[in-house]
Amino acid sequence: MRIVIFIILLLTLVACFPNNPVKMSMTANPLPNTPEVVAAGKNLFEQHCQLCHGSEGRGDGVAASSLASKPANLRQLKNKPEGLIAMRIKAGTSVMPAWKNILKEDEIWQLTRYIKTISQQEAQAGSNH
Ligand code: HEC
Repeated sequence: MRIVIFIILLLTLVACFPNNPVKMSMTANPLPNTPEVVAAGKNLFEQHCQLCHGSEGRGDGVAASSLASKPANLRQLKNKPEGLIAMRIKAGTSVMPAWKNILKEDEIWQLTRYIKTISQQEAQAGSNH
């Protein structure tokens, strides 16, 4: 019974708040999966994210050691839904800025696609060992 109430609550939440986390995490990347989108994401990554997350996204940027918490390794998000990755980028954390105030919606999805792509490459490289 509890689970039923929980599901009803969840669905109500999804319906009532268009930008709520549950709904956003289920949102697919609206951009086409093309090399251009990935390249645009890489370009943005180098401008805004590399300092903390490192040139390859491994969480080892030059600023990483001076931060209160270690930047995430962005090559390990193969199984994370793109909506959830975009949500984390938008919201920021105690250390990372909330990018929704800095970047455009499209730019966040370009970054998300890039992160997904390098995570898939990482997983493939791993399985070849
Ligand atoms: C000031 C340093 C800093 C910058 C710049 C930064 N990040 Fe982060 N990021 C962090 C830290 C630190 C974390 C780990 C979460 C925490 O504890 O704060 C994180 C976490 C994340 C996560 C969550 C990963 C997960 O496991 O779900 C994503 C996604 C992410 N960053 C993407 C980005 C993107 C994209 C950019 C550039 C637009 C960016 N970050 C720029 C410091 C940074």
